[in-house]
Amino acid sequence: MSLRAKLTLGTATAASLLLFAGTASAAEPGAPGIGDPYYPNAGNGGYDVSHYDIRLNYQPATDNLSGTTTILAKTTQDLSRFNLDFLLKVSSIRVNNRVAGFTQAGGELVVDPKQNLRKGSDVTIVVTYSDVPSNYDVDGYKSWKRTPDGALAIDEPDIAQWWFPNNNHPTDKATYDVSVAVPDGVEVISNGTFNGTAKQINGWTRWRWRSAKPQASYLAFLAIGQFEVRQSTAPNGQPVVNAYSLNLGENDLPAKASVERTPEITEFLEENFGPYPFEAQGGVVAPGIGFALENQTRSTYDPGFFRRGANTYVVAHEVAHQWYGDSVSVHRWRDIWLNEGFASYAEFLWSEHVGEGTAQENAQYLYDLYPADSDFWQVLPGDPGTADLFHGAVYDRGALTLHALRVAVGDDAFFTILKRWAQEKKYSDATIEEFIALAESVSGQQLDELFQTWLFTPGKPAAAPGAATFA
Ligand code: ARG
Ligand code: ZN
Repeated sequence: MSLRAKLTLGTATAASLLLFAGTASAAEPGAPGIGDPYYPNAGNGGYDVSHYDIRLNYQPATDNLSGTTTILAKTTQDLSRFNLDFLLKVSSIRVNNRVAGFTQAGGELVVDPKQNLRKGSDVTIVVTYSDVPSNYDVDGYKSWKRTPDGALAIDEPDIAQWWFPNNNHPTDKATYDVSVAVPDGVEVISNGTFNGTAKQINGWTRWRWRSAKPQASYLAFLAIGQFEVRQSTAPNGQPVVNAYSLNLGENDLPAKASVERTPEITEFLEENFGPYPFEAQGGVVAPGIGFALENQTRSTYDPGFFRRGANTYVVAHEVAHQWYGDSVSVHRWRDIWLNEGFASYAEFLWSEHVGEGTAQENAQYLYDLYPADSDFWQVLPGDPGTADLFHGAVYDRGALTLHALRVAVGDDAFFTILKRWAQEKKYSDATIEEFIALAESVSGQQLDELFQTWLFTPGKPAAAPGAATFA
């Protein structure tokens, strides 16, 4: 039979096509998780995403989110089927332009392409959906939050599966085009560069954003509602977009007095960490977030951080995450100290810069703050477990760990280590063990005991880092 005749057998089974193609190795299903012990179902095996094009419509009155996400990916094995992480109800999927089968359960979207996918091939996946994200909980927790005037898709470690199908793990980064159409008068904020609004034929307005550097899926965000949007240009020429919810009150002016200084803080951190890794800057303040999060290029803040006056420390913390967390991401969630310890240490550096206490004074203060019998000293920053992923110990003991390193190796080696870490792992992911190896190679010192004490041993270390010792 001719090739043409074979190819027109539209009803041929996957198996016969496979035989015909003469494939030696059998295609297998991609794993439902990427292999992270803290979150076994996070991410998926068998492919790498390079780009998400997320084109949605959102109606605040009903919380209905509908539209299409187009994913560009490359297979890393011969695949008979593969998973995406997604909670919302899907209406159709195409893989390489052909209608694909699919099933959904427990946040796993299992996609059955008509034809097996060969290892190393480019794949285009188009997922169409319509649903109400606030209807979904995972382990009793709802990351998507409705607000009186819109919604917030902002959380860590999990938010993406509430609004777009994705490979939900920081080890698979991609670029993003995000556009959301909303009723006229509503604002939509997301990551990266603002590509303007476009009038839709139905009287709605589409807001268009592009995040052009590799980005983890949990760092993609949406803030939808009534916002004052401020656009400006940073001293380094980058676009700055800040957005303040109109639901902030008069007592929220300190939020603006803090977040408006994002470019100044970025400039200061560049001196310590090396070049800022992204193409845009900014911050978003909105009630209902409940925490602050380092969304790539545009951190997001609950107004509660600014209720007692300006707070540039939380801005320094989130901006520092752009290097440590967003550009250099955790390889496994166990490595969270590489994010939170470093961002917390940036607060020490900022404190010294603004003349409000040296890093040494901050370290001594935190060491003294927690009594030896406090539960605080029982949480290991180097392996906190999922329940304590964001425990204060990961932040404060985490910052103390970096100060202990600085005292041990000296300022020159310390800042060389921080800069080289950001440079060598840029747009990638890394483990604590790799950081220790870099610190040892830059300093020429054996540092196992230092890190063992500060990151991996329960109990309060015998002395604060850098504390004067008396013989
Ligand atoms: N990475 C954030 C920060 O330290 C913390 C996020 C906490 N997440 C949460 N769901 N509470 O700035
Ligand atoms: Zn943080």
